Amino acid sequence: MQESLTITDNRTNTRHEVPLYKGSVRTMDLRKIQTGPDDFGVMGYDPAFMNTASCQSAITFIDGEKGILRYRGYEIEHLAERCSFLEVAYLLLFGELPTSAELKEWVNTITHHTMIHETTKKFLEGFRYDAHPMGMFISTVAALSTVYPEARKVQDPAVRHLQICRLIGKVPTIAAYTYRHSLGFPYVYPDNELAYTANFMNMLWKMVEPKYQANPILARALDILFILHADHEQNCSANVMRSAGSSYADPFVSVAAAAAALSGPLHGGANEEVLKMLDEIGSKDRVPAYIEQIKAGHGKLMGFGHRVYKNYDPRARIVKWTANQVFQVTGRNPKLDIALELERIALEDDYFIKRKLYPNVDFYSGIIYQAMGFKPEMFTVLFAIPRTVGWLAQWQEMLQDPEQKIARPRQIYVGKEARELMPIEKRASRVASLTE
Ligand code: CMC
Repeated sequence: MQESLTITDNRTNTRHEVPLYKGSVRTMDLRKIQTGPDDFGVMGYDPAFMNTASCQSAITFIDGEKGILRYRGYEIEHLAERCSFLEVAYLLLFGELPTSAELKEWVNTITHHTMIHETTKKFLEGFRYDAHPMGMFISTVAALSTVYPEARKVQDPAVRHLQICRLIGKVPTIAAYTYRHSLGFPYVYPDNELAYTANFMNMLWKMVEPKYQANPILARALDILFILHADHEQNCSANVMRSAGSSYADPFVSVAAAAAALSGPLHGGANEEVLKMLDEIGSKDRVPAYIEQIKAGHGKLMGFGHRVYKNYDPRARIVKWTANQVFQVTGRNPKLDIALELERIALEDDYFIKRKLYPNVDFYSGIIYQAMGFKPEMFTVLFAIPRTVGWLAQWQEMLQDPEQKIARPRQIYVGKEARELMPIEKRASRVASLTE
């Protein structure tokens, strides 16, 4: 039997049966509830999508109450422990884990898309010496659109696939070049003999040695961090990717749009903010006072809280474990003590308990990245590399979904009614301040 809701419209004293689809109301069905033939019908109103599913998706599953995260049905803990990042990328994009032959071919394909055109390299050179790496990353990914004009044929599966490979291959190169640019070092070309993260490290840190040797523990730690960051269902940037892509914009500019959304401090930019916060706190003994300040409404505890997780973020647990591996190579980041104290006190505090605020993935990732030698400005770029895979998986799924169309929300207009336009000399100033 079809499950449904019965809604009584008290305006007209009529009853309407609204079918339920997988426990949800299709808000288009509400439009049939009208006061008369001229009435537009009932709409859904949900600022910030607090309770609205914008799509059906088979990619990532999150149970925020239980702290569960799965990609294509596999637990994040199992993937992080047993798979490589490119293996997980294959899973997210194509729905199944690769066989060893499939993985070999996939790795080979991605490896042969790591170079960027020399003109794109020159484009990067045009940025100021102190340009923020995320701004350089976003702009350069968008600029790839000019290099591959055929990418606009987004409805052609073969064209789509090629751009997906290009993007996954090139984002580490662009990220590494933004880093080298900010240090004033020459760019390092990709080394096809190295694995994905080892090659990324080569492009970041190779100096005059003939062959870069990546530390295997650090390369594996980066691989794990990339797996953890690869997708997170309908987060702010994935939603932007789907929304930009729904107009059939090409994937390069769409990924740039998604990366722009990621750069904000409430989303991927939080890892950079965590480090600033730990610097501001300065020492363990100042943690209680800092927490009191947050509780009094002065700012937020960065790296804490999540729209979906109302339990410990499972990724944060793995990041904490990875931190210990990294510190065996790099030495312990002294900020860890402040972070641990912050977590300990916050988790015992009523304010945080009542609001179900736990550390999220960004709380510890910056501490690892800093121990590896990255400047905080690079942290969000390090998030954007693996998330490119998630954005592309979401984009592809959106384009293949027959129910999807150009994303175009409705609004409730609350502005002025139609009014007469006064000539400029008859207007009285009515705007008190342009900045408030
Ligand atoms: N510190 C202190 N209070 C907080 C925090 C925090 N980090 N996060 C939420 N709250 C409070 C908030 O003030 C509100 O309190 P009240 O009910 O008294 O008004 C309550 O908790 C609910 O918060 P909300 O803002 O309604 O929750 P949201 O789902 O809209 O926001 C969030 C989620 C992640 C934007 C928010 O928790 C936040 O700003 N956290 C800090 C930034 C951060 O770490 N972002 C990374 C998120 S994970 C990775 C990613 O997505 O990129």
